[in-house]
Amino acid sequence: MPEQRRFQDRVALITGGGSGLGRAAAVRLAAEGADIAVADIREDGAAETRALVEEQGRRGLVVQCDVTSAQDMERAVAETVAAFGRLDVLFPSAGIGASGTVESTTEEKWDQVVNLDLKGVFLACKYAIPEIRKTGGGAIVTVASIGGMQGNSGAAFAAAKAGVVNLTRSMAVAHARENIRVNCICPGWIPTPINRNCWQDPERRAQIEQMHPMGRMGTPEEIAAAVAFLASDDASWITGAVLPVDGGYLATGRSPRRGP
Ligand SMILES: NC(=O)c1ccc[n+]([C@@H]2O[C@H](COP(=O)([O-])OP(=O)(O)OC[C@H]3O[C@@H](n4cnc5c(N)ncnc54)[C@H](O)[C@@H]3O)[C@@H](O)[C@H]2O)c1
Repeated sequence: MPEQRRFQDRVALITGGGSGLGRAAAVRLAAEGADIAVADIREDGAAETRALVEEQGRRGLVVQCDVTSAQDMERAVAETVAAFGRLDVLFPSAGIGASGTVESTTEEKWDQVVNLDLKGVFLACKYAIPEIRKTGGGAIVTVASIGGMQGNSGAAFAAAKAGVVNLTRSMAVAHARENIRVNCICPGWIPTPINRNCWQDPERRAQIEQMHPMGRMGTPEEIAAAVAFLASDDASWITGAVLPVDGGYLATGRSPRRGP
């Protein structure tokens, strides 16, 4: 764990904090001094993350919520501020993956993916920004994907994640003068529950690893390190950036994988 404490006594709200990248970011930010509101639709996962936050000597809060609900997201932000008195950092990580072409994607699946992966980010930011403004500024780090930067993913996922990329830029411009920085990370493949169907199969896992020039998948901790950097004052003049954290995947400029 890091020596530095860039988030000492700051407060972060993390959606999807009960698993995967959200959990790793919660632990990293707590290790650097932040109190963490862990928002997730699954209360059990969020409670496990809260315990990990508390192991770092910081306060954790479980907020059970569905990020696709405006009412829930407004409440999640309000509960965070009620518990900790302020909000400095937002990491809206809740999301799902989806394969399928436009033809094979049902309208129901499209709505589910776009609601969670794009609207869920919009709602989290919508209610977090006024609170971050009150502290005199802060940071939002959104999570898109390599799949938001090229056409090699399922249609709904690709569209939603590309939407997150440009939503990030729009918010960065709109809130720059308020010292609210908004940046986006585009992870390559990280083995978490979201994509376990792929990486649990040894043959598929080997294929996935080879798609990355570094020859391996990343770890949640490697994503959390990038989130912590962009959310910290070390990135004080970085806003509107879209950062691949992908072992070189996007640098290949090609789609080494079969279509969605
Ligand atoms: N793992 C990867 O390879 C990868 C790559 C690129 C981008 N991402 C993105 O990172 C984000 C996190 O993915 P992960 O790998 O941590 O997945 P994960 O499945 O481990 O975690 C997702 C979390 O979101 C929660 N969640 C799902 N629906 C929700 C809802 N409606 N409201 C609130 N919480 C909800 C889940 O309960 C879970 O705890 C996603 O947006 C995903 O698209 C992941």
